[in-house]
Amino acid sequence: GDESDLAARPPVVTVMGHVDHGKTKLLDALRKANVAAKEAGGITQSIGAYQVTTEVDGAERAITFIDTPGHEAFTAMRARGAQATDIAILVVAADDGVMPQTVEALNHAKAAGVPIVVAVNKIDKPGADPSKVRGQLTEYGLVPEEYGGDTMFVDVSAKAEQGLDTLLESIVLTADAELDLRANPAQKAEGLAIEAHLDRGRGPVATVLVQRGTLRVGDSLVAGPAFGRVRAMLDEFGDNIEEATPSRPALVLGLTAVPGAGDNFMVVEDDRIARQIAEKREARERNALLAKRSG
Ligand code: GTP
Ligand code: NA
Ligand code: MG
Repeated sequence: GDESDLAARPPVVTVMGHVDHGKTKLLDALRKANVAAKEAGGITQSIGAYQVTTEVDGAERAITFIDTPGHEAFTAMRARGAQATDIAILVVAADDGVMPQTVEALNHAKAAGVPIVVAVNKIDKPGADPSKVRGQLTEYGLVPEEYGGDTMFVDVSAKAEQGLDTLLESIVLTADAELDLRANPAQKAEGLAIEAHLDRGRGPVATVLVQRGTLRVGDSLVAGPAFGRVRAMLDEFGDNIEEATPSRPALVLGLTAVPGAGDNFMVVEDDRIARQIAEKREARERNALLAKRSG
């Protein structure tokens, strides 16, 4: 792979912020879906990933969004979300203002070294005070452009569907101005398992984010200690897809075990090699554990 193998890929954008500040609702509004209403207790408990296409300056642009939980219990998921991303969207409810997980989220994004765009949400609410949010975040080093800083703040209402186009534009602008987002679609696929669970009917199910290469149905892959052959892939609408190119999230069926969230995956030559690598990893982990116990 040399430079000429690289092709533009969509930005991967992680949505972070305090519990109930409207991250899932905002993503629902952006993709015209309704995930938030179906969540138990209205609390996001896993990472979700979706691709949205939008028109900016007459060109179709895809953006991949990763939704993260705001509940304080899910620090590790927020940290992983920040590491998998190109850009972080920090969602702050304009009535609540900056809260503990707002600060935690912005620290994860800073640690990951990714640009931050602030979405000041719930501006439809009577108690909304978007300028207070700007003042608060200035104290954490996120200085709005209108105050002479270099952080984009966009006022939005996920509920009233306000400011959404401006937010998408800001993401595309940030990607174009600050990032060189390219990957080789021709190589064997590699990426991250961002969420995985055991489904009663379908067996192990993993949401993967392809970072390089193209993942195809029939490919043999290793994901952490799990391996298998891709039996089927689904997109964010639950539709079957045959392949997933860089920055595309996909639900993968066919693994023999549940990978850990955050595990890297890679496509290998065939099932036999996938099994060997997975078994080696397991043995290595077992030995490390034994060494730790006896040491
Ligand atoms: P966690 O994932 O649990 O951290 O929450 P979240 O940030 O994803 O918030 P969620 O989207 O679940 O929204 C929380 C509540 O705020 C829901 O009742 C939403 O309907 C409401 N909400 C979200 N956005 C807006 C908004 O723009 N205006 C108003 N009025 N309510 C909103
Ligand atoms: Na919520
Ligand atoms: Mg949520």
